[in-house]
Amino acid sequence: MKKIVITGGAGFIGSHVVRRFVNKYPDYKIYNLDALTYAGNLENIADIENKPNYTFVKGDITDADFINELFQKEQFDSIIHLAAESHVDRSITDPLAFVKTNVIGTMNLLNAAKTIWKNNFVDKRFYHVSTDEVYGSLGATGLFTETTPYDPNSPYSASKASSDHFVRAYGETYGLPYVITNCSNNYGPNHFPEKLIPLFINNIINHKPLPVYGDGKYTRDWLYVIDHAIAIDLVFHDGKNHETYNIGGFNEWQNIELVQLLCQKMDQKLGRKPGESNSLITYVKDRPGHDLRYAIDASKINKELGWKPSVTFEEGLSKTIDWYLSNEKWLKNVTSGDYQNYYSNQYE
Ligand code: NAD
Ligand code: DAU
Repeated sequence: MKKIVITGGAGFIGSHVVRRFVNKYPDYKIYNLDALTYAGNLENIADIENKPNYTFVKGDITDADFINELFQKEQFDSIIHLAAESHVDRSITDPLAFVKTNVIGTMNLLNAAKTIWKNNFVDKRFYHVSTDEVYGSLGATGLFTETTPYDPNSPYSASKASSDHFVRAYGETYGLPYVITNCSNNYGPNHFPEKLIPLFINNIINHKPLPVYGDGKYTRDWLYVIDHAIAIDLVFHDGKNHETYNIGGFNEWQNIELVQLLCQKMDQKLGRKPGESNSLITYVKDRPGHDLRYAIDASKINKELGWKPSVTFEEGLSKTIDWYLSNEKWLKNVTSGDYQNYYSNQYE
């Protein structure tokens, strides 16, 4: 029996990872460690809360004493670490919060794992979930590979790059068995509506302006979140220690083209006139330090572990819109309270 702590399991990607592990591996004991920040929401995993192999622990990874006590008590075999401050725009307003959670929080987990494992690393694993943003920005051509030099441009990506370096350093210095994955932009159910796709879905529903940064020609490589969870499962079980794997959607879209597709699909699903939601598109001030293009070469994980995306973008986007349209209460809950302050500071 494995005892795995998954951090950030009440967030967007973490909730899909927790659900997959709890349902697929009844012999594993899964602990979901989450501080329930604005981005964490127990509604995301309400369907598994009573499963016998699942435990929720509310706690903050920046609290070293708490983390050490928890690890001493539970003696986890493995960590799948997703907890983070994850939104680039928030990192521009409050960079220190990103250093605290993403760097110091990761350090606390590394130290706690190193302490309880005491150089006995048999069947142990520290899995660090990271992002393609650590590689910086691509020009019009080329792809990020596992050997692309780090070149982060935002406080968010700098904090993730820093945490990746510490994980690797603990591997080299102390022999900690780690694996890192760097993934492209995810989308899908439970995505917090501060990020492009869910924000725009919510605004289209409510006939609100769609704030496209700059000229809208920035490009991202989109992956359906469940395909990311499948990749994490594969790398956790079969990835090699001390290795990095890039995960991506082979699916590049310029923001403006993606937004137009979203408007078209939403108009169909909402029974609105063709072109109605396009009129909501509004070009606004650009994001400072905005990376032009991200695109992943995912051939290593494909060749070594046989992973590739299972869902096309058309299917994934359609499922995502359907999820938001049928989870109005979820959307209302997460966009009440603090969200309104965030929204007016960011956009008004
Ligand atoms: P999210 O913001 O939706 O969720 C983050 C979760 O972490 C929340 O449940 C939050 O409560 C929890 N958390 C935050 N600070 C914490 C703390 N101090 N202690 C304990 N828990 C805390 O994030 P996400 O989009 O699901 O991203 C998850 C991970 O995947 C992050 O590490 C992110 O860098 C990485 N990632 C995200 C994407 C993406 O497109 N969203 C792509 C690649 C990698
Ligand atoms: O690439 C992986 C990363 O993808 C993850 O590590 C991050 O956690 C995740 O937030 C995401 O970062 P991005 O900055 O790419 O995602 P976001 O949804 O914030 O923005 C996507 C693109 O859309 C980007 O070019 C900025 C643009 N944008 C975003 C918002 C919120 C707009 O034009 N308007 C907006 O209002």
